[in-house]
Amino acid sequence: MKRIVSGIKPTGTLTIGNYIGAIKQFVALQKAMPEDEFFLFIADLHALTTPQEPAELRQRIKEIAGMYLACGLDPERTVLYIQSEIKEHAELGYLLQCFTYMGELERMTQFKDKSKKQDVLLTSSLFTYPALMAADIILYDADYVPVGEDQKQHLELTRDIASRFNNRYGDFFTVPEPIIPKVGARIMDLQDPSKKMSKSDETDKGYISLFDEPSVAAKKIKSAVTDSIGIIQFDPQNQPGIANLLTIYSSLENESIDSIVSKYSNLGYQEFKSDLSIIVSNTIQSIQEKYQSIVNSNQLDEILDKGRDQAQIIAYKKLEKCKRKIGLGRKRK
Ligand code: AMP
Ligand code: TRP
Repeated sequence: MKRIVSGIKPTGTLTIGNYIGAIKQFVALQKAMPEDEFFLFIADLHALTTPQEPAELRQRIKEIAGMYLACGLDPERTVLYIQSEIKEHAELGYLLQCFTYMGELERMTQFKDKSKKQDVLLTSSLFTYPALMAADIILYDADYVPVGEDQKQHLELTRDIASRFNNRYGDFFTVPEPIIPKVGARIMDLQDPSKKMSKSDETDKGYISLFDEPSVAAKKIKSAVTDSIGIIQFDPQNQPGIANLLTIYSSLENESIDSIVSKYSNLGYQEFKSDLSIIVSNTIQSIQEKYQSIVNSNQLDEILDKGRDQAQIIAYKKLEKCKRKIGLGRKRK
């Protein structure tokens, strides 16, 4: 039996980039791997690497948990929990900082990008965040971690940290492998297809939120930036806008890009966009309907309580063993 672990940060809204790159993949894996265990958490400690308004943060934590369920996650087969409710994450995060080098953290492109963009003072947690992320994963001895392309480097660092620990203290942590989707690992901004679609973006025309009114989402697809070439083909280099829309189409419809290209080869951008806008708005609408029924019941709290209790047992045992390996505390009689 394998264990699959992933997390999502409750900052900003959830976009169709998150849906296609991470959530949908998680749901598909769950269907494809009926024997395996799935752990999913809301990474609220990670949200604190940038300033958060308390009421808003608390609201988002539940929003994201509810959205995951609305997107098709099986509550019976998922240990769904909130990171900060399991103290062991933070504690192992600190321990792993002691096995992570400054140079490694300085090389993280996400840190470099974010520290350039940020207009407020940078926190040290933004810098050490990959050690906490490594803790989130190896605390549960995850075999696989489904994530979007942007997290690949953090996963490589996680593997290095786990291996370093194992070399020093003997085999202890499972060294995890990332699972990155073939299609949709990087959904781009609708207004500027050279950059990643991001929920914390300034202009809201560039991303589609899972909470957007379906008609608003449809409009955003129709007004997405394309090019003047006018031919529907998959050429991310020269036609990044169309390539991005083809990727969204392919992922939402589970249809290959080749098949979509041949279907639209004689049609214009307008027709293609119009069809895609219907696909996107229908997808969002059905997710939102499920979301409403989930948030209006007690189901979510029950699932989060159960998830916390299940995760807690594993996390506690692993951390205790880890501390003993390192030589912390007193010898047990
Ligand atoms: P974040 O929103 O940064 O917490 O990311 C949560 C998950 O969604 C991670 O696995 C990301 O890799 C994935 N993700 C975020 N933005 C995108 C995007 N534009 N395209 C594909 N995957 C994404
Ligand atoms: N760092 C991830 C992101 O920004 C979220 C995350 C935190 C995560 N801990 C994780 C993802 C552990 C996978 C596994 O998207």
